[in-house]
Amino acid sequence: METVVSGIRPTGNLHLGNYFGAVKNFIKMQQENNCYFFIADYHSLTTHPTPGDLHGSVRQVLAEYLAAGLDPESSTLFIQSDVPEVAELYLLLNMNAYIGELERTTSFKDKIRAQPENVNAGLLTYPVLMAADIIIHKALKVPVGKDQEQNLEMARKFARRFNHMYDVDYFPEPKPFNFGDELVKIPGLDGSGKMGKSEGNGIFLFEEPASIKKKVMRAVTDSGPTKQNQEVSEPIQNLFTIMKQVSTPDTLQFFQEKYASCEIRYGDLKKQLAEDVINFTTPIREKINDIKANDEYLGKVAQMGAEKARESAVKTIKEVREIIGFRKF
Ligand code: TRP
Repeated sequence: METVVSGIRPTGNLHLGNYFGAVKNFIKMQQENNCYFFIADYHSLTTHPTPGDLHGSVRQVLAEYLAAGLDPESSTLFIQSDVPEVAELYLLLNMNAYIGELERTTSFKDKIRAQPENVNAGLLTYPVLMAADIIIHKALKVPVGKDQEQNLEMARKFARRFNHMYDVDYFPEPKPFNFGDELVKIPGLDGSGKMGKSEGNGIFLFEEPASIKKKVMRAVTDSGPTKQNQEVSEPIQNLFTIMKQVSTPDTLQFFQEKYASCEIRYGDLKKQLAEDVINFTTPIREKINDIKANDEYLGKVAQMGAEKARESAVKTIKEVREIIGFRKF
């Protein structure tokens, strides 16, 4: 059993792309590893310093991940700010993190371009907090996408540096865990590219049927095949890719054959796709709503997660304090 840590942004609602990508893999990982999954609410303040409804966003995301299949029994599912030990490790790691290296990270440069009015120190030290999140549980594996690889490299660097500075072999180096081929990439409904939150091309798990139907019916298509067995254009292939996940193989084959014989009617394709997406998401949406209405359950999950996470965090902080030389009188 290897220890795995992954942080979840509290601002992102789950869409089909997340579901068939990261979430499915989290669900698989939680069986075979000692997983710590947490909602990174401290981190969210670096971009949203005065959130309107921080608790509400955390609650929504927690309910969505639970509904999608994260199991609070087999993994440790918690809220970052419920484990304040991470803030102490962050403080200590900050003493050995250098302004120059932090300023050079791509995510910092991107962020200051995106929010020039709020270039705060939390933004600069974002990778230090992320390193603390990971190494506080002595994680060996971190499932991350391309955009987080540099942050993870920093986490390895801070772990190594700590060991070197205090002449110990204490923190292991966390390795990126790439799902590679297993990761199904779900395209958006706008003709090209991945489904994403900011792209506005996504179908969310919490979405009501009417809204899903509207989005699918408006999906970008092309002007239709003009000759037999014509190569499928990107927007149509994208609809087939989503269909492959939510429809039966027969349904997919039916529309692929209609395409090949130039008899396809995109209106019919979309209607079927909308119906199948709705059938797929409905049980999840209902579960999200049930969980959200169940304060007692959410409270229990968060408390159990915090207790499990603090167990390992408290131990690490105690040992780190000893290593550095803080002693009780
Ligand atoms: N930075 C990650 C993101 O934006 C979230 C995150 C915070 C994280 N701490 C982490 C991911 C620790 C993995 C491990 O998606």
